[in-house]
Amino acid sequence: MNEVAKNRVLLGVCGGIAAYKSADLVRRLRDHGLQIRVVMTPSACEFITPLTLQALSGHPVHRSLLDETAEAAMGHIQLARWADIVLIAPLTANTLAKLAHGLADELLCAICLATTAPLVLVPAMNREMWLTPATQANRHILQQRGARLLGPGEGQQACGEIGPGRMLEPIQIVEHVLPLLRGGALQGLSVLVTAGPTYEAVDPVRFIGNRSSGKMGYAIAAAAREAGAQTTLISGPTALKVPWSIECIHVTSADEMHREVMARVRNHDIFISAAAVADYRPAECLGHKVKKRDAQWTLELVRTADILSAVAALPNGPFTVGFAAETDDLAQNALNKLTKKSLDLIAANWVGVEKGMGTDDNALTVFWDGGHAKLPLAPKPILARQLLKVVADRYRAKNPT
Ligand code: CTP
Repeated sequence: MNEVAKNRVLLGVCGGIAAYKSADLVRRLRDHGLQIRVVMTPSACEFITPLTLQALSGHPVHRSLLDETAEAAMGHIQLARWADIVLIAPLTANTLAKLAHGLADELLCAICLATTAPLVLVPAMNREMWLTPATQANRHILQQRGARLLGPGEGQQACGEIGPGRMLEPIQIVEHVLPLLRGGALQGLSVLVTAGPTYEAVDPVRFIGNRSSGKMGYAIAAAAREAGAQTTLISGPTALKVPWSIECIHVTSADEMHREVMARVRNHDIFISAAAVADYRPAECLGHKVKKRDAQWTLELVRTADILSAVAALPNGPFTVGFAAETDDLAQNALNKLTKKSLDLIAANWVGVEKGMGTDDNALTVFWDGGHAKLPLAPKPILARQLLKVVADRYRAKNPT
């Protein structure tokens, strides 16, 4: 399932002294055959001329959100759709704050809101501005949403101070960007991910659900796509945006999720079951809203199909990865599930009050036959990338070619 490498980079340039390095960055990206469109903020134009970046990128520089000619040709929505990756270098504290809070008062911020492409941010600012709690909180928000931060580096700054805040060198930025475009550890493979809760209907207005937000499953799907896999997501009800370049099938109940997974999983190399699938559903879904009557109401529940076990039992099925959400005996319960469900890998995490489900950060211990890896507490997008690295390593160990 190889696919043509992506090569369209939208480069955002903000107003900082490091903007002079953006010219070299454009040239180096083009040396690798990448197509570049440049978007400059108004203050970036005080540091470097649009003409320079136009000449180097081979295309007019986009500057204004309300430019009639640009809207007719390549306005913010088209630019947002065009990009395979949005790279902002340098990123100032001001634009970082605007992105964290979803402002769209100029072209670059509007593109970032409208795009589903991966966002790669290369900050450059005075060390105090970088270290101040406001900037650190904004950086954290963006990382938790899946944005990648490159740098900043440490050293002598343009203001004369020494510390963190230097923009990475263009050559380092190119080294990070190329694998994202050309695919990484899962290049050529296909991954099916389930995510979110399931809702089991009691009557037309009531259901039995759980606290899963879907954040971990969505982060896994995004990380699989970034690692080069053709990725399908089967999602229970969540409030999350489907990540870039991923086919998503929305379902509500465990039965629907079971049906959709079994219909597709044979076309995939790896199955990752991150969904919090209900183990039981009401024996019947009443056709009308039930009126309250007695002091007690007893619901009869029946077992749902165990989707993960069903996939693991397929002859010549995919590499299967399960999750174990535990409140006690994490390692023992996870290892029991690994064996009982015949899985290739299981990722175990603690759940409980403010742990695991619905949170932005998590920690995992991953077990396989004969080994384990601990992935310490981190924002879910970062944790998902680390998990996918383990998955890719174990997949290659099982399928050496
Ligand atoms: N799972 C599934 N289908 C179900 C229930 C669970 O595919 N009907 C998957 C989950 O996506 C997860 C794994 O099974 O990857 C483990 O789920 P968990 O709820 O932790 O364990 P259970 O096997 O349901 O066992 P128990 O509830 O007894 O802990």
